[in-house]
Amino acid sequence: MPYLDLLDGLSIFYHDEGAGEPIVLIHGFPLSSEMYQPQRAALSSRFRVITPDLRGAGRSDAPADGYSMDVYADDIVALLDHLGIGQAIVGGMSMGGYVVFALLRRHPERVKGVILIDTRAEADNEEGRANRFKMIDQARNEGVMQIADALLPKLLTERTRRERPELADWLREIMLGTPVDGIIGALQAMAARPDATDLLPRIAVPTLIIVGSDDPITPPDMATRMHSMIRDSHLVIVPDAAHAANVERPERVNAAIMEWAARVA
Ligand code: MLT
Repeated sequence: MPYLDLLDGLSIFYHDEGAGEPIVLIHGFPLSSEMYQPQRAALSSRFRVITPDLRGAGRSDAPADGYSMDVYADDIVALLDHLGIGQAIVGGMSMGGYVVFALLRRHPERVKGVILIDTRAEADNEEGRANRFKMIDQARNEGVMQIADALLPKLLTERTRRERPELADWLREIMLGTPVDGIIGALQAMAARPDATDLLPRIAVPTLIIVGSDDPITPPDMATRMHSMIRDSHLVIVPDAAHAANVERPERVNAAIMEWAARVA
């Protein structure tokens, strides 16, 4: 299993499958690279698909502190260096999108194209930040279970949870595998992240924006706003999908990425 050893002694796990134009996909919160299993399966026939576990998630190490979007972004650059990749298409789902914005600020020369899946440019407002701190207390006192159970109905539509309970169970398992230190670190990083709205008109590379029609966390109006502000952007609204559109409707998401990335490559 491939791991990258970072300079600060941490070990970062990643999948690296297929050959061709590299596409790095960064997972959301409190998930791991496992959530991209449907994308690895489909896209690796034509592209090199790299899906890391951010520090604090999945099989990567979870330090007690030191988390920020900038640190996550620098870890992605360390991974690109390790793999000998100068430039890649970089995508992120939700929190993964926040990491992509940090990458664009700090290392724009490494980004050939951008994929934003169920994410937003806005920083947290005061209420959002207060909720993060409540969740941090909850994670400390009660563990991950309640956070996972509260998030699940937002990740998949009610219909999918009813008709495909195994998909909900799978996502729940991924969330339950996230260490408490990683959950707390990610919540701190999200609460502290800057607004990326100013960055949008300065994104100079092709950008694909994907959103589930029923996403309650980062709804289509947020995606539409990003689309109106990013010059070379293409918007795909995935019907009958909530926040984890790439898991709920992988065939639609994969087709959109395949077609768009073939043009970018
Ligand atoms: C995620 O899916 O990564 C989170 O919902 C992002 C957030 O809470 O802002």
